Order: sequence, then C-alpha cells, then structure tokens
Amino acid sequence: MFDDATLLEHYAVPDRSVPYLRVNFVSSLDGAAWRDGRSGGLNDAWDQQVFTLLRRLTDVVMVGAGTIRAEGYVGALLAGPAQQWRVENGLSAHPPLAIVSHRLDVDPASEVFTSAPERPLVITHHAAPRERRDALAEVADLVVHGRDAVDLVAVRAELAERGLRHVLCEGGPTLFGSLIAADAVDELCLTLSPVLESGDASRVARGPHRTLPMRLAHALPGGPMLFLRYLRA
Ligand SMILES: NC(=O)c1ccc[n+]([C@@H]2O[C@H](COP(=O)([O-])OP(=O)(O)OC[C@H]3O[C@@H](n4cnc5c(N)ncnc54)[C@H](OP(=O)(O)O)[C@@H]3O)[C@@H](O)[C@H]2O)c1
Repeated sequence: MFDDATLLEHYAVPDRSVPYLRVNFVSSLDGAAWRDGRSGGLNDAWDQQVFTLLRRLTDVVMVGAGTIRAEGYVGALLAGPAQQWRVENGLSAHPPLAIVSHRLDVDPASEVFTSAPERPLVITHHAAPRERRDALAEVADLVVHGRDAVDLVAVRAELAERGLRHVLCEGGPTLFGSLIAADAVDELCLTLSPVLESGDASRVARGPHRTLPMRLAHALPGGPMLFLRYLRA
C-alpha cells in the first residue's frame, strides 16, 4: 500500500484560501463508471486509500443524488484516525456532505441525514418541489441557486463564503457532466482499474458537450491500479 507521506505529497491542495473543485472517479480501462450499477465493482484497497485521502483533504464532499441513491453514504465519511489528522491540521473533524438534486427525491428520514456527524447540505434550484424542499430544510442546510437548473458557479461561490473552499466531488457522471458544462472543474483524479467492462455503463461524465483541456500532474501506479491526476490546462 502507499505510505501516507507519498499520497499527501502527490495530492497536496494547491492553496486552501482559493476556491477549488476536485473531482474523483474510478473507471474501467474502457471507460465504464460502474459495474452492476455501482462503482464498488471497479475499486480495490489501493483506490480506497486514495479515495479516503482525498476526503481527508477536503472541506466538503459533493455528490449527486443519484450516487446517494446508488451508494448509500451512511455515517461518518472518515474513520477516527483521519478525523484526528484533520483536527491536527486545522480542519473540522468531518467534512460535510453536499447533495445536488433537481427533484429532491431524497428521504429526509434516511440515514444519510440521521447518521451524519455534520449537518449535510442539499444543493438545488428555485423550481425544485416546495414541499420536499421544506422537509429537507429540517435535516439539512439548503443551498439554492438557479431558476430551474442548479447554477453550479454560484454554488461554488456560496460554499466558499461558508468556508467550504476546497470541494471534492465524488460524482456521479451526471453531476460531473454538469460541472464540466459550467466550467467549474479544477482537477480530476481518475483511477484506472485494470478491467474491461464493455456493456452500457456510463462513462465518468455525461451531459451537454464541452471541451475542457487538462494537463497531467502525475501518473502513480499503485498495486494493479493507475492513479492519474489532471489539472486545468
Ligand atoms: N466510477 C465512479 O467513480 C463513480 C462515482 C460516483 C458514482 N458512480 C456511479 O454512478 C451511478 C449514478 O450515476 P448518476 O449520473 O445518476 O449520478 P449522479 O450524478 O450522482 O446523480 C444524478 C442525479 O443527481 C442529481 N444531479 C446531478 N447533477 C445535477 C445538477 N447539475 N443539478 C441538479 N441535480 C443534479 C439529480 O438528482 P435528482 O434525480 O434527485 O434530481 C440527478 O438525477 C451509480 O451507479 C454510481 O455507483 C460511479
């Protein structure tokens, strides 16, 4: 496995005082973002180590509601030693979860909210269903930007105003596509998993076309995986 110093050096946050959005995905060699509807089929302990390290470094973990529905996200996002590391390094023990949704089809009674050590944020727009918005406001802080679609640039600015400057987006592909469309991505951390999937799994981003050139920061082998880090060109 990686030693901690190696990972901290490779994934150091450029400047914590500036808003920054990092995206993390695992993909098969042929570009699939999931197997049997979940990313878990593609990752391993090496990927889990990098995934956890990126959580440790962030102010907030952003996810689309589809990923919440597929993957769960229950309880603390980090184990005790990582919480302790954060506190020793001037961060809150727990990065909060920020869930992005149009329809707000997320149950306020679900464990995503009831077991969260930090009150989650729910990010939506002004045309989202009013009743669901009110219900979610009981268990989460609402961040509302955009008339009938989420304005992700304004969301980034509000998160920064709340002191959540470093954002880690853990997907999924629809949210990543929206972030690309909004030109809101500073970095992609992509784990290549040594498997071919074919089939009809989505690739890691989908949505309207937009080209964002990136440049390679590192290519780090770890066990059978390849860890790629790309920054804005
Ligand atoms: N390979 C990986 O690293 C990785 C990472 C994450 C997820 N995944 C996989 O991806 C799959 C889910 O894919 P997905 O595309 O459905 O994921 P997603 O982007 O997390 O979820 C899509 C849903 O999130 C909300 N959403 C996303 N972007 C939005 C935006 N710009 N504005 C408002 N709402 C937005 C909407 O929720 P509402 O429907 O509530 O409006 C939308 O239906 C799962 O199988 C998961 O396992 C893979």
